[in-house]
Amino acid sequence: MKILRMLIVMLVCSVLFNVIGQAENKYVGVKACAMCHKTEKQGNQLAIWQKSKHAEAYKSLTTVKADSIAKARGLTKSASESPECLKCHVIGYDGSADLLDKNYDYKDGVQCETCHGAGSGYKTLAIMKDKAKSVAAGLQLYKDDAEIEKFCVTCHNDKSPMYKGFKIKEMWGKIKHPKPKT
Ligand code: HEC
Ligand code: HEC
Ligand code: HEC
Ligand code: HEC
Repeated sequence: MKILRMLIVMLVCSVLFNVIGQAENKYVGVKACAMCHKTEKQGNQLAIWQKSKHAEAYKSLTTVKADSIAKARGLTKSASESPECLKCHVIGYDGSADLLDKNYDYKDGVQCETCHGAGSGYKTLAIMKDKAKSVAAGLQLYKDDAEIEKFCVTCHNDKSPMYKGFKIKEMWGKIKHPKPKT
C-alpha cells in the first residue's frame, strides 16, 4: 500500500512538473535566436526578419498616423500605450515579467518567438539539433500551408484597422525564411 501511495504521489508530481515546466518557458528575445540563425548556411533567418515589416511592428505604433487611428477608434491613450493596438503588434507588452528574460525587448515587435513559442526551453544547441526534442521543449512548428494560414490570421484579420485582406501565398512569400537545401 505504502509503495502504491508513493507511486501515485510521484506520478502526480511529474505530471504537475511537466505542465508547470512548459508554462515557465520564458521569452528570450530575437538576439538569443540570432546567435545561431544569422549565418548563410543556416538560412540567415535574422536578416530576413529584420527586413520584414514584423520587425517594425512596434515602431509603427509610435507614429502620428498610429495615434490618429487610435483616436478615431475612441482610445484615450497613444497607440503605443494602448493594449487594443499592442495586442497584435507586440508580444509581452503587458510585462508578465516572470515570462520575459532580461534580454527580451518587446519593442522588437512581431519576433521569432511570437510565431515559434517562448524559447528558454529549446534554445540550447543540444535540443535545437533534434527536432522532436525542440518541439517537446516548446518549439512551435507548422505542418502545412493551411496550418500556417490559420496562425497568421489570428492577427491578419478585420479587427486590424489597416486590414486589406490576407493572401497567404503572397504574404508568406514576403516573410518565408527557409533553411537552404543541402
Ligand atoms: C545554439 C544555437 C541555436 C539557438 C540559440 C537557436 N537555434 Fe534554432 N536551430 C539551431 C539548429 C542547429 C537547428 C537545426 C537546423 C537544421 O536542422 O539544420 C535549429 C532549428 C530551428 C528551427 C527549425 C526546426 C525544424 O527542423 O523545422 C526553428 C523554427 C528554430 N530553430 C527557431 C529558433 C528560435 C525561435 C530560437 C530563439 C528562441 C532559436 N531557434 C535559437 C540552433 C539554434
Ligand atoms: C502576432 C500578430 C501577427 C501574426 C501572428 C502574424 N503577423 Fe504579419 N503582421 C503583423 C503586424 C502587426 C504587421 C504590421 C507591421 C507594421 O507594418 O508595423 C504585420 C505585417 C505583415 C506583412 C507586411 C505587410 C504587407 O502587406 O506586406 C507580411 C507580409 C506579414 N505580416 C505576413 C505574415 C504571415 C505570412 C504570417 C503567418 C506566418 C503573419 N504575418 C503572422 C502581425 C502579425
Ligand atoms: C487584430 C490585430 C491588430 C490590431 C488589434 C491592430 N493591428 Fe495594426 N496591423 C495589424 C496587421 C496584421 C497589420 C498589417 C496590415 C496588413 O497587411 O494586413 C497592421 C498594420 C498597422 C499599421 C501600418 C503600418 C504601415 O505600414 O504604415 C499601423 C499604423 C497600425 N497597424 C496601427 C494600429 C493601431 C493604431 C491599432 C490600435 C487602434 C492597431 N494597429 C491594432 C494587426 C493589428
Ligand atoms: C510571423 C511568424 C514567424 C516569425 C516572425 C518567424 N518565423 Fe520562423 N517560421 C514560421 C513559419 C510559419 C515557418 C514554416 C513552417 C515551419 O517550419 O514550422 C517557419 C520556419 C522556420 C524555420 C525552419 C525553416 C526550414 O526550412 O525548415 C526556422 C529555422 C525558423 N523559422 C526560424 C526563425 C527565426 C530564427 C526567426 C526570428 C529571426 C523566425 N523564424 C521568425 C513563422 C515565423
